[in-house]
Amino acid sequence: MMPQIVAIGADHAGYELKGVLKRDLADMGVEVLDLGANSSDPVDYPDVGQAVASTVADGKAGLGVLICGTGIGMTIAANRHHRVRAALCRSAEDAEMARRHNDANVLALGARTTTTAAARECLKVFLTSDFGGGRHAKRVAKLG
Ligand code: RB5
Repeated sequence: MMPQIVAIGADHAGYELKGVLKRDLADMGVEVLDLGANSSDPVDYPDVGQAVASTVADGKAGLGVLICGTGIGMTIAANRHHRVRAALCRSAEDAEMARRHNDANVLALGARTTTTAAARECLKVFLTSDFGGGRHAKRVAKLG
């Protein structure tokens, strides 16, 4: 089910891609909470990762999107939060499995490692894929 509200954040490396994905989210009819960065001036990815992860963990957004150069730093930052399952995705297949099997609630993307077209596809699939439940629910519960 498409979330009503999506929190999005990027560091300087992901700033430009964030603008593209924000437009896609608006076109999908989703309310966007943009938690920075607000320019391509250097910022530290843990600060933005923390902002998006806590917004999702607190239920203020149904899903989150985080972008840095590789997506790796943002994934690590977001996964330090209880109730956040961030998945670094580079393909539509990754994005679909992250939702269906892992109930991922934050999509992490690498602006320097993923083409804009692939990132946009990941976003669309992540938002339109649902958790499969069943055998996966028991496993996700073990993640704490
Ligand atoms: C910034 O240069 C870069 O380190 C950051 O965007 C990210 O890739 C970290 O994981």
